[in-house]
Amino acid sequence: MQEVEQTTTLNPQIKDAAIKYVRNLFSQADDSEFIRMLKKEAFKNVYKKMVVEPDEFMARPRPADIEPWSGAKPDSPQDFLKSKVVLPSLPQVLLEIQKVIKDPDSSADDLAEVLNKDPKLVASILRLANSAMYSFRTEVDTTSRAVALLGFKQASSLALGTVSLSLFKRSEGVQVLQVEKFWKHAIACGVIAQEIAKLAGIQDTERFFVAGMLHDIGLYVIFESDKSLGLELYELARKNGNSLYDAEMELLGFDHAALGGVIIRDWNFPKSLVVAAAAHHNPNKAKKDPDAGIIHVADFISRALGYHLGLSTVLGVLDQEIYESFGLSGDMFVDMVPEVQKMIEEIFEILNPA
Ligand SMILES: [Fe+2]
Repeated sequence: MQEVEQTTTLNPQIKDAAIKYVRNLFSQADDSEFIRMLKKEAFKNVYKKMVVEPDEFMARPRPADIEPWSGAKPDSPQDFLKSKVVLPSLPQVLLEIQKVIKDPDSSADDLAEVLNKDPKLVASILRLANSAMYSFRTEVDTTSRAVALLGFKQASSLALGTVSLSLFKRSEGVQVLQVEKFWKHAIACGVIAQEIAKLAGIQDTERFFVAGMLHDIGLYVIFESDKSLGLELYELARKNGNSLYDAEMELLGFDHAALGGVIIRDWNFPKSLVVAAAAHHNPNKAKKDPDAGIIHVADFISRALGYHLGLSTVLGVLDQEIYESFGLSGDMFVDMVPEVQKMIEEIFEILNPA
């Protein structure tokens, strides 16, 4: 934070508050070149937000119409799902995309045909194909052209990611989890995951976009199916100055990642997505493939850059060994930040389900 403190043109009071906020944000993170780099980026974002949206940093009043949590702990993620949850049903188009992906004889035309059944999805795919995420020289104006240019894997992944986001609806009444923040976090994690996977030289990086979109589905399900429990977790994390993960482990004995893994597995999504969600807070438990590790790092970066859920004021732990295993440097990361931020905002504008 030394470089930050040397900045002289800032409002000193806001600067002090931002430095304090960022120190607390990273209080569970080890000191490393990468973390120092990330702190500087976080400071820029926090300072700007403190100027433009100071209310963001005020504690939210406790919603009066949410009942106190009963204290009845579910034994496991499966037990929680059985007793509490009505899962969002999967849209038909998603089932058909999954079928096309799983069938080794499927062609690009088969995929385009399925996508064409859903005009809203087609519109999103075309806008994404023409966005900053890809730099095609010509305008992409039909689904078949989009599939041809993007390739089968990238196009199906984009479609899955797009439809996945539509599963996370805004609920009626008071929200503990602010769903707009959730959407942006999901997109940010997907975009960053895909970019760092590319930098790390991993093959087939398109799967990371969907993995990022879906990684916190367990968190959405906890907060939307049991608002009393959601509020209890939120307040516990704030009271203890811990991450939401810590609050979940203390209160439930399992975390939203484990729950998300069970949901994604029950939906018959590819195994890589199950693992990425299930182990994104414990990537050392799933080292065989890079998926959980990439999502772990992307999740941390996205929250550090301000694409967080607003549930806790601490980022939690970044597994340094996992991060280092991808051979990324702080410089590589800093270079990609402005482009990544632009992509996230553009994709959010295209996919915003509101
Ligand atoms: Fe998470």
